[in-house]
Amino acid sequence: MKRVIFNQKGGVGKSSIACNLAAISAEMGYSTLLVDLDVQGNSSMYLGYDIHSDEARKVDTNVASIFRQKRGLLTNKLTPQDYVVDTAYDNLALLPSSIELERMERDLESRYKIYQLRKALEKLEQYYDRIYIDTAPNFNFYSKSALIGTDTVLIPFDCDSFSKQALYNLIDNMMELKEDHNENLRIEGVIINQFNAQASLPAKLVAELRAEEMPVLDCYIGSSVKMKESHYQQKPLVHMARSHKLTQQFISLFEQIENLAPGSFFQQDIDRGDAEAKTELAAAE
Ligand SMILES: Nc1ncnc2c1ncn2[C@@H]1O[C@H](COP(=O)(O)OP(=O)(O)OP(=O)(O)O)[C@@H](O)[C@H]1O
Ligand SMILES: [Mg+2]
Repeated sequence: MKRVIFNQKGGVGKSSIACNLAAISAEMGYSTLLVDLDVQGNSSMYLGYDIHSDEARKVDTNVASIFRQKRGLLTNKLTPQDYVVDTAYDNLALLPSSIELERMERDLESRYKIYQLRKALEKLEQYYDRIYIDTAPNFNFYSKSALIGTDTVLIPFDCDSFSKQALYNLIDNMMELKEDHNENLRIEGVIINQFNAQASLPAKLVAELRAEEMPVLDCYIGSSVKMKESHYQQKPLVHMARSHKLTQQFISLFEQIENLAPGSFFQQDIDRGDAEAKTELAAAE
């Protein structure tokens, strides 16, 4: 199962959402891969990998190698070990971004390499139960490659009126791409991020989206400084503050997209003998 997190508007929470859902997925026991397709490398950094470090510049274990068509892609020998790095967390692997992506883009485009990522993901899918793909705030070659290579898209929405216009542009672009390149492409849902229940505008905007039959997911993500702290510590929320409200909202969101019963995540902790999980489950309900 592959999920792309995409919105061409910047700063709506793509990387935060991709990494936190991936971390929860791994904690839930799914073998999970986070693919960072954004040259900013924010998701890579969040999961503890600095794409600008001297070491990262020297190695091939990154997403640029997928596009360079090195090694096994033609011979069917693609294995994650060639590209992927481990994270500090069980079940969670990272296909880091690379500073090379920008330089390579034009060449890849002119050589029609738009299906390259799809082919690689099909192979990597043999090794991972869940693949989360973070994208840049652009409808660029890499975002298109991701949308061509995925089953579903999650669209973060940050509750301002510019975001609403961006959402319509995004859906138009996606529909065109679906028609031309990936008839299976499906919008899994719009994720409401940084929702402020006290203000009237966010609720109004969300009601408008629902009235227009946008597939808005029911679990909203609030706004909290914990998110920035979590980036700073390079620790996804589920590892930094398991019982925080924001973490619980992400867990509920995860349970919703996975069609799991509410409380499944903490129930799993209880089954493992974690005493605090009972309180967390009660707080989540
Ligand atoms: N729920 C939240 N609560 C508080 N801050 C948040 C939340 N979600 C995102 N942020 C903050 O908003 C900023 C942008 O988030 P993030 O980097 O995840 O967005 P993005 O869509 O990936 O950005 P870009 O388009 O640049 O890739 C970050 O500083 C992040 O800490
Ligand atoms: Mg980002």
